[in-house]
Amino acid sequence: MRKTIKEILKEGDSLTGKKIDVKGWVRTRRGNKNVQFVALNDGSTIHNLQIVFDLTKFPEDELKNITTGSSIHVKGDLVASQGAGQSVEVLADELEIYGTAPADYPLQKKGHTMEFLREKAHLRPRTNTFGAILRIRHALAYAVHKFFNDKGFNYFHTPLITASDCEGAGAQFQVTTLPLQDLPKNEDGSVDYSKDFFGKMASLTVSGQLEGELGATALGLIYTFGPTFRAENSNTPRHLSEFWMIEPEMAFYEIEDNMDLAEEFIKYCVSYALEHCYDDIKFLNDHFDKDLIERLNFVVNNDFVRLGYTEGIKILEESGKNFEFPVYWGVDLASEHERYLVEEHFKKPVILTDYPKEIKAFYMKLNDDGKTVRAMDVLFPKIGEIIGGSQREEDYEKLQNRIKEMGLEGMDWYLDTRKYGTVPHSGFGLGFERLVLFVTGMQNIRDVIPFPRYPKACEY
Ligand code: 4AD
Ligand code: MG
Repeated sequence: MRKTIKEILKEGDSLTGKKIDVKGWVRTRRGNKNVQFVALNDGSTIHNLQIVFDLTKFPEDELKNITTGSSIHVKGDLVASQGAGQSVEVLADELEIYGTAPADYPLQKKGHTMEFLREKAHLRPRTNTFGAILRIRHALAYAVHKFFNDKGFNYFHTPLITASDCEGAGAQFQVTTLPLQDLPKNEDGSVDYSKDFFGKMASLTVSGQLEGELGATALGLIYTFGPTFRAENSNTPRHLSEFWMIEPEMAFYEIEDNMDLAEEFIKYCVSYALEHCYDDIKFLNDHFDKDLIERLNFVVNNDFVRLGYTEGIKILEESGKNFEFPVYWGVDLASEHERYLVEEHFKKPVILTDYPKEIKAFYMKLNDDGKTVRAMDVLFPKIGEIIGGSQREEDYEKLQNRIKEMGLEGMDWYLDTRKYGTVPHSGFGLGFERLVLFVTGMQNIRDVIPFPRYPKACEY
């Protein structure tokens, strides 16, 4: 029976002496006139399986075709390995070559830069590094669903095409079927969207939150987990134009409950990865980031600091640091400020709360001071903001005023949740790739998603 390399290495001893059937891609081949060794990988694990070819059984001409990158099927006996570096190996009896790879196979043994590999996205997953990242990404996605399912949350599907702008940042990609070279116009010269596909202006969503609130104010506990699109022109190692976001929304939760949930959730995901992807994390730790495992354990085992924005500003002002962007009450914190608080001042993840209302979205609950809102951002080492959330304004009139103040239209469907049986409620958004970035220790968010989209880059 065919087994994956992960299964073979796991079952190891109990399989020795038995016939093994294995398929995969060749990483390397080396040897001499008598014996050739192939390192085979099938993507199930970071580890390779060593296949031994005896040249009395296989003609050299046939083995020459097993080049790096080629795909093969091998049958043979699993035996304890003579050599160092692996405990078992396969003595090949039968070989089938599915596809050879010519000598211009782009992935050679020498290390490649991340930038080079980004241009080879069709082969990037075949490298050790991306295999590890993609398996960790999968495990984290599974952990997200498991965490919420076990707590009684409902996975709630919010639309990707929407007529509202949740964050109000004007960073939406428009969705239209209007002919761009010949747009229908109104008398005043503006575009006549009544002629468009949906009869109104539509965009790709920047967040499922507003629709998620409709779910939470009926089902109680919901979460979304889906693609999110932002047309910000941010060329940073932490921004993508298409990313995945997880947005839980909870009826009857105040901001403290929201913070508790966010902290528990992140710790659960990081622990899950440590437990289920240790070999992959160890590989990334040893090859890229010697402090990775220590940092992950630290986050799991320590309480996050909870701090008000106003206090945070005070710490930054008194830090004596020469920041690139000036610090003052009212400023939207830059990544350097967030990282100072986390990496230098507290040396712990920080949940910063009660931001000035001017720098936050319209839906956040206003505090009694009239100046700040019940926002909470979770700030992480090396990442900066990993979660953004808040308690929501549940008062119909206050919310309506805020919507008017900001000039938002077409929000009656949203206001209805406050009109009919309103409840205190809260939620947050975790950028999935920022979580994967943290857990893998990679430097650039473009390297933790199979097909990154960012300004001027939309390949494949
Ligand atoms: O802080 P943001 O904009 O919050 C919201 O969208 C709320 N509606 C969430 C909620 O309360 N339900 O985004 C949430 C998170 C950020 O903290 C960050 O982790 C991630 O989404 N994020 C991005 N990740 C990658 N690329 C981008 N361009 C991102 N923008 C935000
Ligand atoms: Mg934010």
